[in-house]
Amino acid sequence: MTFDVVTIFPDFFRSILEHGLLKRAMASGHATIRLHDLRDYTDDRHRTVDDRPFGGGPGMVFTPEPLFRAVEALRAEAPEAALPVILLSPQGRLLTQAVAEELSHAARLVLICARYEGVDERVAEHLATDEISIGDFVLSGGELAAAVVMEAVTRLVPGVLGNEESCEQDSFAVPAGTPAEVRQGLLDCPHYTRPAEFRGWKVPEVLLSGNHQEIRQWRRRRALAKTWRRRPDLLAQVPLSKEDREWLELLRCADDEPVSHAG
Ligand code: ADE
Repeated sequence: MTFDVVTIFPDFFRSILEHGLLKRAMASGHATIRLHDLRDYTDDRHRTVDDRPFGGGPGMVFTPEPLFRAVEALRAEAPEAALPVILLSPQGRLLTQAVAEELSHAARLVLICARYEGVDERVAEHLATDEISIGDFVLSGGELAAAVVMEAVTRLVPGVLGNEESCEQDSFAVPAGTPAEVRQGLLDCPHYTRPAEFRGWKVPEVLLSGNHQEIRQWRRRRALAKTWRRRPDLLAQVPLSKEDREWLELLRCADDEPVSHAG
């Protein structure tokens, strides 16, 4: 997977390239991240990339010319290949696990980072093939969003995560064709490690029991309970067993905290 990031702040990305998953993915050859300074595609002395908006209003808007030049130079490297060009913006479609999955099938992605006032609409209409938002909030620029997209997508590239870290158990992951399992499409269940008691707070007994059947059931129930309380909208999309539905009914019937923390 190759990411071509077009930005006025290439240095912004240094730290994420030097730590964690993206660094590992690059070292193992699963990901290549190329940073392109948008100002290199300007031709005036001040390397200008933005201008005042027509019609007035606050802020500056990225002009189309440098962005078109930058992307066209990247396209020219492999003119035969389809090249998805993603504009990061709060107006884009929402990044979800399903969208990350879809993007992870591409061999190469161009990510355009703009400042929050935006880019000339002709970039969105005639240059970008996709527009993605990482959430219903406004950032000062697309750099953080591009970093989020790269991390979410790269960890889905086969071979990037070891077996132990397998993303199939993640919150929101619904691997096609697998039977209803522990956490599919739900928020993740709680996790604990040593010590078994910390400042008087004990790890739920069942997790120490070694009874895998009970542990699986506990995890499923905790994931269902957390999802029901925090993100009930997700439940509508999750295949539920009869046992799941009975558990949710119990939660609904309870007046206060229906499940103790030890659950
Ligand atoms: N740029 C500014 N805000 C953004 C957001 N929420 N998602 C993606 N890009 C952005």
